[in-house]
Amino acid sequence: MSTHIGAAAGQIAPHVLMPGDPLRAKWIAETFLDDVECYSQVRGMLGFTGTYRGERVSVQGSGMGLPSLSIYCNELLREYGVRTIVRVGSCGALTDKLRLRDIVIAQGACTDSSMNRIRFEGYDYAPIADYGLLRAAHDATVARDLPVATHVGLIFSADSFYHPRPELTARLVDYGVLAVEMEASALYTLAAQHRARALAICTVSDHIVTGEETSAQEREQTFGHMVEIALDAMLG
Ligand code: ADE
Repeated sequence: MSTHIGAAAGQIAPHVLMPGDPLRAKWIAETFLDDVECYSQVRGMLGFTGTYRGERVSVQGSGMGLPSLSIYCNELLREYGVRTIVRVGSCGALTDKLRLRDIVIAQGACTDSSMNRIRFEGYDYAPIADYGLLRAAHDATVARDLPVATHVGLIFSADSFYHPRPELTARLVDYGVLAVEMEASALYTLAAQHRARALAICTVSDHIVTGEETSAQEREQTFGHMVEIALDAMLG
């Protein structure tokens, strides 16, 4: 039984969807899975296991930021034998190439976090998605003919939601970064360490360039598309 998840061995499936918000985890489990069991309520960071088209799938909240996600990913990968984690989250658009509600499939994640600088003693590690999952997720967006655009590319996993140096974020855009969120870099690094598969799929919830934001209802609708893509990619 792990410290922060506290589930018994066997309660968590090898394939895990990971939203930041634990209430999203509940919504995903109740909306998409059958035969759902809640395996963790520790600190309110809910986790569920159920089935999707007959296959066991778990949904685990990660909380916000690289350190929080790292706690849950470490325990899933080390103690529960998890092999696939797909983050389903939101992001802020950094470029006018993106519109509200678009989907971003993160090929790689830059970061201002010191976690990997400490891990690699100053070397710059390049955290990337699992290629098979990335390709399957992209194929799923084409097959499902979604009403929103999908972008595959670089994102920025920021330590600060209220970033103290927005001009540095803008500089990243000059080098191809599309959007900002707060978790993918740690997810990709930990998956690599444990030879597991990981992918982050995010919907654009707010636009840093235009100042637009989605409503809670819009976020729920687009979140559904993303979950379907993630499930297709993970189990396909
Ligand atoms: N997630 C969604 N929008 C974000 C933003 N603007 N910054 C960081 N993470 C986000």
